[in-house]
Amino acid sequence: MSNAAENLSDVRKVAVRTLMAVTLKSRPFDIALDEMAAEAKLNARGRAFAFNLVMLSLRQLGVLRHTLQGLLDRGLPKNATWTEAALITGLAQILFMRTADHAAVNETVELVKSLSGKEKGFAGLVNAVLRKAIKKRDDLLSEADKHPERNLPQWLQTSWAETYTEGTMRAIAQTLASNPPLDISIKPAQLTEDMAEKLRATPLPTGTLRRDATDVTSLEGYDEGSWWVQDMAAAIPATLLGNIEGKHVLDMCAAPGGKTMQLAARGARVTAIDRNKNRLRRLHANLERTKLAAEVAQADAATFEPVQPVDHILLDAPCSATGTLRRNPDVIWTKEPTDVAKLANLQAKILRHAFALLPVGGTLIYCVCSLEKSEGVEQVDAFLSDFPAAKRVPVSPDEVGGLGELLTDAGDLLCLPSLQVEKGGMDGFFAARLTKVK
Ligand SMILES: C[S@@+](CC[C@H](N)C(=O)[O-])C[C@H]1O[C@@H](n2cnc3c(N)ncnc32)[C@H](O)[C@@H]1O
Repeated sequence: MSNAAENLSDVRKVAVRTLMAVTLKSRPFDIALDEMAAEAKLNARGRAFAFNLVMLSLRQLGVLRHTLQGLLDRGLPKNATWTEAALITGLAQILFMRTADHAAVNETVELVKSLSGKEKGFAGLVNAVLRKAIKKRDDLLSEADKHPERNLPQWLQTSWAETYTEGTMRAIAQTLASNPPLDISIKPAQLTEDMAEKLRATPLPTGTLRRDATDVTSLEGYDEGSWWVQDMAAAIPATLLGNIEGKHVLDMCAAPGGKTMQLAARGARVTAIDRNKNRLRRLHANLERTKLAAEVAQADAATFEPVQPVDHILLDAPCSATGTLRRNPDVIWTKEPTDVAKLANLQAKILRHAFALLPVGGTLIYCVCSLEKSEGVEQVDAFLSDFPAAKRVPVSPDEVGGLGELLTDAGDLLCLPSLQVEKGGMDGFFAARLTKVK
């Protein structure tokens, strides 16, 4: 009994520490959680609870902070960081999880009591605030429903309202509240109705198979390496290279290899590079499981010189990743406008080098999982006006399964998380197809 109780508060402590690591130190969620869960020796069930709790707290962070302000008569002292994070996770349980109310309150209060230093004195306040939240739950939930945009930092609200419209910004924010489906890219040769049925998945017009999220390792074909997990939107850019059978394709910024696997599975001879050693390990593991081949090198895409000339290039540039907010809700809270500007400079540099490596007649796909126009269309337009030998090759609706709404007037791919919501939505993605003329 006492072990189980200890374990429960350990789990919540891991969740609170992870939330603080993400929001105060801009640490990536998965890495922070792995570290804290290992330190606390959480079992798989405990880790899963902590994961869900932090995931929900991050998805609803803006709403939870706003709610908390409303429940406090006076604000919290500035350095009460543990108390604030504990209250956020307590509120997340009360408003958005099925945790029993008494457990959400008692465990959070116990956690604050167990703190060393002044913050343990806030245990009474935490108790009062969480009990007030339980009493006002219906009103708090209806207020949260009315303002999904509160879950975006102010700079993103402004940027997306300006770039897309106020309504689209709110619709994108709304998607944050939902769990993303599990999207699967399957080797073309294995894409049969039979396989879709075995995976209990629905084929989408773009070729991706979609089903409810589950433990992927238990699904048919996982061990055989017949498929890999990849959001529908992320799976489109590689297909825009058309028939690449026997062609040498350079996949710049390739790790963990979602697009490398697509290229190799379509018969290309792939050179895949990335600067990050750890992420390259994941790329190697993915290639091994799927039994696909690529030449892999750790290299800087801004200076890399391939040994053999390439036919085509896929540049999935490092970006702010604001399009992946539903799968990675930590990202929007760990980035600032200055990060976007720095990344845009890096993208411009890599894009120029990539173009120098492209032969006349070759195709270069430039893509980012960002919704910022400075990383997407503005990046490409600036490049095209600097390089007259570069031409945009517009994408046509039939290349994206007839989904014309995914294309801009200029023929770039622009996937918004607010599109196809009734079918489960998608990540935000931008891609432009370029070629080199004499
Ligand atoms: C959007 S991710 C790539 C995702 C990958 N294409 C896929 O489909 O799985 C961007 C990648 O760029 C890599 N990166 C960042 N700066 C780089 C640089 N200067 N040279 C090469 N790779 C870089 C990062 O390590 C990261 O793996």
